[in-house]
Amino acid sequence: MANTFQAALDTIPEDLVCLSDYASYAKNHMSHAVYEYIVGGGADELTLRRNRSKLDDITIHPRVLIDCTQGGTQIEILGETWRHPMMLAPVAFQQLVHPEGEIATAQAASILETGMMVSTLSTVSLEKIAEELESPKWFQLYFQQSRDFSLSLVRRAEAAGYTKLVVTIDAPLHGIRNRAQRAKFVLPEGVEAVNLVDRPHLPSAAFDPSQSIVLQGMMSETPTWDDIEWLKANTALPIILKGILSPADAVKAVAMGIEGIVVSNHGGRTLDCVPAAIEALPHIRKAVGKDYTLLFDGGIERGTDVFKALALGANAVLIGRPQVYALAVAGALGVGHMLRILREELEVAMALAGTPTIDSIGVDSLWNY
Ligand code: FNR
Ligand code: LAC
Repeated sequence: MANTFQAALDTIPEDLVCLSDYASYAKNHMSHAVYEYIVGGGADELTLRRNRSKLDDITIHPRVLIDCTQGGTQIEILGETWRHPMMLAPVAFQQLVHPEGEIATAQAASILETGMMVSTLSTVSLEKIAEELESPKWFQLYFQQSRDFSLSLVRRAEAAGYTKLVVTIDAPLHGIRNRAQRAKFVLPEGVEAVNLVDRPHLPSAAFDPSQSIVLQGMMSETPTWDDIEWLKANTALPIILKGILSPADAVKAVAMGIEGIVVSNHGGRTLDCVPAAIEALPHIRKAVGKDYTLLFDGGIERGTDVFKALALGANAVLIGRPQVYALAVAGALGVGHMLRILREELEVAMALAGTPTIDSIGVDSLWNY
């Protein structure tokens, strides 16, 4: 049966007032299969749910009668000044939910002065997105089977003006995506990873049908620490590794001269049964020291969630699914509205907790730490 859904709205409904409202509305603005692909996590989704429940468990320790009139949310990240400690996470295939895809997202990010990590798997070319993006632009790299082809993506990103390379290392293959499988999700015709159209075909000898398809077919694209070392030697762009949960890996990245880490479990979409990203965050902060650049994602839906992540050691957070929900519901207008809500909620949380600046948010801003 054909699945009908509504086109994006051109005004924001009055009862759409927080990020989870976007998640509810989004269901009506995309096909069932696409919704299941986006909303879903790996296997039983234990980690997906844990990302939220562990954030919910944290309580804030508010202090009163503090003058917050001189406060602000501006931060410095690796030589860049950001208006607020948030960035859009790399999210693939945005034309799945809106005909303008990443272009609309980039327009909203520019207006709201919010940075964007552009996915290797974007449906608009990385160059066209860069032209639209006036806020911090970082390129997310998925290593490709051929180093030459990976390097050609890096060269394109450098030429297009991206200022950082974010290498995602926790998703060499999709996790077990039962929800997307049940809904028979496939990329519809016309939606493709346009940056990869010239990708060399896999050598057929690399696939041995007697072996597991996972290990033989796809894991051969899995980068190792050697590939990261090689990449570092081949680009002047600072490198950030996205998808670290283990303090031991974080220490290794620091020792290698990697400029930053995104503490993340890919929104619970890869290996199920790993800790919530917010559980890993304080351990990683402790391992890398107080001055190292740490970003965080996984379950952020409220200004208070941003506050909690900052208190546990993140310098800034990334927003994943809510950006696609907002894009589906109301295009660039929706993404801009979503970011404004989150920014205002963070400011309200800071004022009510008695922490007027980002630097004043620390572990003592939390009750149960
Ligand atoms: C992602 N994520 C992702 N990450 C990445 O490095 N490259 C990518 O192309 C994608 N694509 C992607 C598609 C979709 C539909 C989702 C939901 C997620 C992961 C993303 O960057 C981020 O880590 C998580 O989404 C963060 O969790 P929340 O904010 O969605 O809870
Ligand atoms: C995902 C890939 C594209 O999470 O990163 O679906």
